[in-house]
Amino acid sequence: MTRLSAIATAVLLLAALPLRAGEIPDKAFSSEADPSSRQDNASSKTLEHRSGTTFMSPDTKAIQDDDTANPGMLWALDGEELWKKKDGANEKACADCHGDARESMKGVAARYPAFDRELGRPVDLVQRVNLCRARHQQTSPLAYESREMLALTAFIAQQSRGMPITAGRDEELAPFVAKGHDLFHERQGQLNLSCANCHDDNWDKHLAGSAITQAHPTGYPLYRLEWQSLGSLQRRLRGCIFGVRAQPYEFGAPELVDLELYLMTRAAGMPLESPAVRP
Ligand code: HEC
Ligand code: HEC
Repeated sequence: MTRLSAIATAVLLLAALPLRAGEIPDKAFSSEADPSSRQDNASSKTLEHRSGTTFMSPDTKAIQDDDTANPGMLWALDGEELWKKKDGANEKACADCHGDARESMKGVAARYPAFDRELGRPVDLVQRVNLCRARHQQTSPLAYESREMLALTAFIAQQSRGMPITAGRDEELAPFVAKGHDLFHERQGQLNLSCANCHDDNWDKHLAGSAITQAHPTGYPLYRLEWQSLGSLQRRLRGCIFGVRAQPYEFGAPELVDLELYLMTRAAGMPLESPAVRP
């Protein structure tokens, strides 16, 4: 993206994003990096692999780093209770089959989305939990952003904290990783921007006061100060799609799962940080 078109785009975006007065910067895109680094091409820039955490202010980072201050921990604690709660027609709790999550769920979130043989496609952690609810508990699915689902997925993801992302290694996933890759690079919406235009080409810049990060999915589900809540990766992706004025896919849509899967392979080896905190 040329500098001029970036600015034109950002001006359009400013109109699209809900901003409080005083947050609108003079220049929508501003680079804090040393000017020489702008010569870098996109691929060499992305090799640096920086988590969204490294773009945050020290204040926000302090909230994330302190478990007693991190609001996401409240969801994880609720999740631990739900893990032990009997539910469904056969009165089974997650714990009745999976035992202590600290053992059985270790590393699980780091390799999702994973391939489900019966469905013949990848499912993310939310869908995996709902498969257990349907197949093993004989009960109804939980909605993506419901308190219970966020709590269960936060508790499960917490068991992989600090573990490297390994998702996407199963060879049956290859076509879905490829689809996610294409979606990431496809221009869309009235602003005609791809994810890569911002997150590969402009991650060292700011947009309307927000750092444009490299879009690594290391922290999800995470607590966003702007949401005043925990939220899933799909909620975040829908927000970015809405930001370029495209019609976001429904929660659970195959396109969003393919994007999640691609983002996880793109972040391979990075440590999971859930429940993280973001501005
Ligand atoms: C116009 C620029 C722009 C485009 C295009 C864009 N994003 Fe973003 N994205 C942002 C900004 C800015 C943030 C962080 C600030 C915020 O949260 O509002 C962000 C945040 C994210 C995050 C959160 C990372 C973290 O550390 O929590 C992910 C993941 C993400 N975007 C993925 C995507 C995907 C996938 C697409 C394409 C469907 C996309 N983005 C398109 C600007 C963009
Ligand atoms: C009656 C036993 C049973 C119950 C109850 C159950 N599960 Fe499962 N779960 C399984 C089995 C068996 C698998 C392996 C995949 C399959 O056969 O569906 C599994 C797989 C999983 C996985 C994927 C693990 C991996 O390594 O990929 C997760 C995550 C999970 N369950 C979470 C839950 C949660 C959360 C609950 C409670 C809401 C729950 N399960 C309830 C039996 C159960």
